Amino acid sequence: GANSMWGGRFAAGPDAIMQAINASIGFDQRMFAQDIRGSRAHAAMLAAQGIISPTDAEAIGEGLLTVLSEIEAGAFTFRPELEDIHMNVEARLKDLIGEPAGRLHTARSRNDQVATDFRLWVRDQCDAAISGLEALIAAALAQAEAGADWVMPGFTHLQSAQPVTWGHHMMAYVEMWGRDLSRFRDARARMNESPLGAAALAGTGFAIDRRATAAALGFDRPMANSLDAVSDRDFALEFLSAASICAMHLSRLAEELVIWSSAQFRFVAMSDKWSTGSSIMPQKRNPDAAELIRAKIGRILGATVALFTIMKGLPLAYSKDMQEDKEQTFDAADSLMLALAAMEGMLRDLSVNRDAMAAAAGAGFSTATDLADWLVREAGLPFREAHHATGALVAKAEARGIDLPELTLVEMQAVNPAITQEIYAVLGVDNSVASRTSYGGTAPVRVREQIAQWKERLA
Ligand code: ARG
Repeated sequence: GANSMWGGRFAAGPDAIMQAINASIGFDQRMFAQDIRGSRAHAAMLAAQGIISPTDAEAIGEGLLTVLSEIEAGAFTFRPELEDIHMNVEARLKDLIGEPAGRLHTARSRNDQVATDFRLWVRDQCDAAISGLEALIAAALAQAEAGADWVMPGFTHLQSAQPVTWGHHMMAYVEMWGRDLSRFRDARARMNESPLGAAALAGTGFAIDRRATAAALGFDRPMANSLDAVSDRDFALEFLSAASICAMHLSRLAEELVIWSSAQFRFVAMSDKWSTGSSIMPQKRNPDAAELIRAKIGRILGATVALFTIMKGLPLAYSKDMQEDKEQTFDAADSLMLALAAMEGMLRDLSVNRDAMAAAAGAGFSTATDLADWLVREAGLPFREAHHATGALVAKAEARGIDLPELTLVEMQAVNPAITQEIYAVLGVDNSVASRTSYGGTAPVRVREQIAQWKERLA
């Protein structure tokens, strides 16, 4: 039969395929709490404004709480013929309280209703991302503190470049996640305006109080333009964009953990809790969690691109295209929260092989720059000349298959007579990192300062 919500002008119900393409209840039921919260705020405002009676508002408010507990208890039957969460809730309210339920939708449209619900949902996800990031940063800080002076190879092009410290490397991610944090905070602040009361697109002739509903829902203020309120999804795009950047950061550390846990590196060992075995190769310990975190950016960025593409070119105001915003955003949010939690757990349980990192730190002529810098400082050579002399020493060592400190002083002096015994200390990895005291540099004293600042920031 025709729809009970708008069936007035319809003689027949929809085709089965129409229902299949049209219904969103399969996914938008996730917004049930936001929907009920929004409806309760709306009904209370309608009563306060004298638009509905206090008795009806009371019945609606109580009835909605009953619907809420039914859904929470898993005792609610979601009906696809009722299309979405909004109409499922309202229909159930009608079963429960009868006629007053029909007054709830006064001065409201599903257009402002869905925009409100979805904003509330995405706002919660910003909060979840913020707490997830704070926990992750705390885990990285603990690693950084433990290993503020553990030397490891620093890479460019994944080739040994200069020694750095484990703490410095961890703190690099803390900075990235710190910017992620601020992106979610910014997005949350910008999205915190209420679409409720925009009605279908043009506002309403009823004397509603949009400030009251905005305040009841924790929004800072009502959105200033009703067309904008029902037709933009930039808040979700901001969330998705911040999530994509964050997932990209997670993916990079995940990749490093995959590399570092390999038998060829052995810088770290993932705990059993974060590894899997192979059903054929008994020796295997695979870093599956890290690999899956590495992959999540694919889904999250995919969702971001999908929603941009859905929104692009849509004329104002609401079009049904916008119903496709939710599954993408839900999936991206779930993926992000899982990736954040898994990375946090992995970092907390990670054991770091300090000796393997130190051994690798000196390989690949990683302190060649220190030698060149010494020639500049102590022998007054122009840097380019010092670079050239050091290059000659590297070539010499490489030809003999040894490291720089294994060259004798006589061999070094043959390249540049200014070189003294002091050079052997300069070529040591601990000296190398300790010497890099410039602001933001890898010297343990700088790294410890950075850690202290972050602890203060988080406290
Ligand atoms: N299920 C719809 C959505 O998610 C709700 C809004 C429907 N509005 C409309 N005018 N058909 O977008």
